[in-house]
Amino acid sequence: MNDLNITGYGDNLKINDIRLGDLSPKDHEEIELSKGGQNYSPLENVVVSHVKDSSTLICRKPSKDNVSKYVEEELLDGLCCYSAVNQGQLNQTIVDAVVHHLKEEKIPTVPRSIRHKYMSGFLLAASTFTNMDRIVPKVAGVESWELTFKICRRWGYEVKKIPANKAIIVGAKGNFHGRSMAATSMSDDPDTQNNFGPFLPGIELVPFNDFDALQSLFEEKGEYIAAYSVEPIQGEAGVIIPNDDYWPKVAQLCKKHNILLAFDEVQTGFGRTGKNFAHQLYDVKPDIMGCGKAAGGGILPVSFVAGRDDVIGVLTPGSEGSTFGGYPLASVVGIYAIKTLIDENLANNANIRGHQLMSGLNEIKNNFPDKIKEVRGRGLLTAFEMYNDKQLDGHKVSLSLLAKGIYAKETHHSTLRLAPALTISASQINILLTAIAEVIKDI
Ligand SMILES: Cc1ncc(COP(=O)(O)O)c(C=O)c1O
Repeated sequence: MNDLNITGYGDNLKINDIRLGDLSPKDHEEIELSKGGQNYSPLENVVVSHVKDSSTLICRKPSKDNVSKYVEEELLDGLCCYSAVNQGQLNQTIVDAVVHHLKEEKIPTVPRSIRHKYMSGFLLAASTFTNMDRIVPKVAGVESWELTFKICRRWGYEVKKIPANKAIIVGAKGNFHGRSMAATSMSDDPDTQNNFGPFLPGIELVPFNDFDALQSLFEEKGEYIAAYSVEPIQGEAGVIIPNDDYWPKVAQLCKKHNILLAFDEVQTGFGRTGKNFAHQLYDVKPDIMGCGKAAGGGILPVSFVAGRDDVIGVLTPGSEGSTFGGYPLASVVGIYAIKTLIDENLANNANIRGHQLMSGLNEIKNNFPDKIKEVRGRGLLTAFEMYNDKQLDGHKVSLSLLAKGIYAKETHHSTLRLAPALTISASQINILLTAIAEVIKDI
């Protein structure tokens, strides 16, 4: 190994002779291009330095007269880390709990092979919050979805008595469940799948929100189908909202065929859609669901599976595990992420501010009917889609918004998702809307 000397904090953090505070946005980009995996294309010419408050990022942009220098500007966060920061950045309740835990309670990490007292707190809080019998903690969102996948297969064999290795998990076209091999196998996005095969067998996809297609598949292959594993509202696909009667009809159909309804609430959960969980919008209850993102309050990655006793009950010692799933610090963060959502009534705020945002976006659509095709959303999970025209480029819109101090990012070519923290204020929503209206007018 070459000599490595790491000193200091923040801007004074030095890796050998490179001091973070001296790096321009271009320097950061060059380091990422030469040392990182090229699996993201972040917004150009901007680097986040720190946060100012729950929805305001302080970012560095190239200085106008010298690109190797930077200026700091505020950025209103319209995305909140794809719903990982529903409680707002550095939520005081969660930060206080973490600081207290590390300084006073002094138990950061122990393995699952010995019990720790905070796990009980997390299981009690998460099972009550989700109204589910059992909770299995994991770390990343994709792990929670992948575990629902495994549990559904095992339930299929052990409870439904599907012949060995014949179980089918049904997914929806346009799905996004993360980046593991099972999630990659379920994806129908060519960029996601290209040259990562062979893929997991036993997966079939139906069009999202198409009841008849699901019914035909269940009628044809129902005896082999363990679960319909699906997002209640598709997030990455561009905030695709099903018809109001889709989920109630699907839930009944699943019951009829003895097929589990497995929801991925990683993005839609924790107040995002105006209810604590999106399935509550439709008055249905999944048999099992995966949660993540805001389960960690924007502080730590925390995810978990929640489900019915007889479904999660198929797990046995040795069949599942996770070094950091529910470790003491994650349990504490998970408990206080839930407490914040309840005490600050954040689902209700998502509902109120979501109506404000949606009515503003609809007004923009009415003013520019030749540019905006559709506005979609529930609570603060919203998006507007522009017409499929070269000029109406989502990336250009993101860059124009950035120039106006707003962070939002396109999904696909012509859709912009807006999903700010659930703590966002009425005046911040107005700032977002004014900037969007100006950008759409000029594009
Ligand atoms: C619905 C859904 N499931 C799973 C994931 C994966 O979560 P993670 O990136 O934490 O693994 C995401 C991430 O965007 C998601 O939106």
